[in-house]
Amino acid sequence: MTQDELKTLVGQAALQYVTPGSIVGVGTGSTVDKFIDALAASGMAIAGAVSSSVRSTERMRALGIRILEAAEVESLPVYIDGADEIDRQGHMVKGGGAALTREKIVADLAARFVCIADESKLVDVLGAFPLPVEVIPMAAAQIARRFHAIGGQATLRANCVTDNGCHILDVRGVQIRDPQAFERDVNQWPGVVTVGVFARNKAGVCLLGTSSGVRTLE
Ligand code: 5RP
Repeated sequence: MTQDELKTLVGQAALQYVTPGSIVGVGTGSTVDKFIDALAASGMAIAGAVSSSVRSTERMRALGIRILEAAEVESLPVYIDGADEIDRQGHMVKGGGAALTREKIVADLAARFVCIADESKLVDVLGAFPLPVEVIPMAAAQIARRFHAIGGQATLRANCVTDNGCHILDVRGVQIRDPQAFERDVNQWPGVVTVGVFARNKAGVCLLGTSSGVRTLE
């Protein structure tokens, strides 16, 4: 199966975690696009979706799915999103699509994070994928120096302004052996909006697309 077919498989499989009539948290990316398409094609009636990006909002609206603002809900039963990397404990690196801040906000509203990904995303230790960090533009150089001091090389993502008007640094060369501590520490650096390590808001379930079908990690 191609990577695209694996994404379709897990996008479809995620439907089993959606309760008809509920409000669903929806992430961003090519795998989530498959979920959105599967949701629309299924004909399942949901009360609406809280979206993590302009991209997903536009796709859902075009398919007739009602969009609610995050501020309109107190909680969500489920949040469905992809990842750039995931380990066996459900910690993730996210933000390849630059939507990490809103993704973390919507994930934080949800009782359960269902991660959908093809099997290439499963890793032993996070950090091979360049770590996205959303930053306030005036702090980017100082934050890059801080990463340099811990062995990372940060580069400013070209032509990228996030939905929040901020910039993204992509950091190579850091192995994230303690995701919770790493997330907590980097989030405290002045000017960091969100670090793309999802440890506090880790996945409760991961649906991994493999050539022999969907593998569920819980
Ligand atoms: C966007 C993300 C995506 O979930 C992540 O980049 C995975 O994307 P894709 O499903 O296209 O591989 O974090 O900010």
